[in-house]
Amino acid sequence: MTSGNKKPEVRIAASILAADFSQLGREIKALDDGGCDEIHFDVMDGNFVPNISFGAPVLEWIRPLTKLPVDVHMMVHEPGRFVDDFARVGADYFTVHAEACAHLHATVQSIKQAGMKAGVALNPATPASVLDEILPDIDRVLVMTVNPGRGGQQFITGQLAKIASLSERLPWRATGADLAVDGGVKVDTALACAEAGASLLISGTGIFNHPDGVISGIAALRDAIASASD
Ligand code: DX5
Ligand code: ZN
Repeated sequence: MTSGNKKPEVRIAASILAADFSQLGREIKALDDGGCDEIHFDVMDGNFVPNISFGAPVLEWIRPLTKLPVDVHMMVHEPGRFVDDFARVGADYFTVHAEACAHLHATVQSIKQAGMKAGVALNPATPASVLDEILPDIDRVLVMTVNPGRGGQQFITGQLAKIASLSERLPWRATGADLAVDGGVKVDTALACAEAGASLLISGTGIFNHPDGVISGIAALRDAIASASD
């Protein structure tokens, strides 16, 4: 990035899909201690994506353990069916896939009516232009840099152009909306995401599988992006 083109601070979210679920309370405490900015909660239905993960009852257990904001990433067909369940257990963001909603605008409205912030995720094959008519209505765009369904996949470099083009749509960003990146975000890919204009980096295995532990995983990502805001 050129100097004088200072980008806003880039925040870090941890995808607890990669956490040790036998020690979930301890893992979440480490995220707090490590200065993580947000918890990313991947919900999979075995339909929109092949795997099944967890749902609102699990969030109900962990919500009292941290004050960090929680984004539920709904890799679920017609996720609007679950808006009230997740609002009730304290989700802050509810992020749906554009590909999974027959009436995306209506789903976004229902998320906001339930008191949550509305995110929309795009699969790698989905162009940013599907959001042209609703961009001002949403609080977060989540660009998938892997195909959704499991953690630990390789970052798809070609998605950087989509991140950059969304970032350049300044009227949208000026509202404070987030541009999130999810999938394969690690020390070797994080800086490129930040340079392309991402405001939130979501990492699972990059944080939880760090050889020196969760706190070091978060610190390593922060170090990797430090030069992006110079
Ligand atoms: C993929 C999930 C991601 C995933 C990220 O379907 O939406 O949030 O957990 O994991 P890593 O960072 O390991 O690619
Ligand atoms: Zn996710």
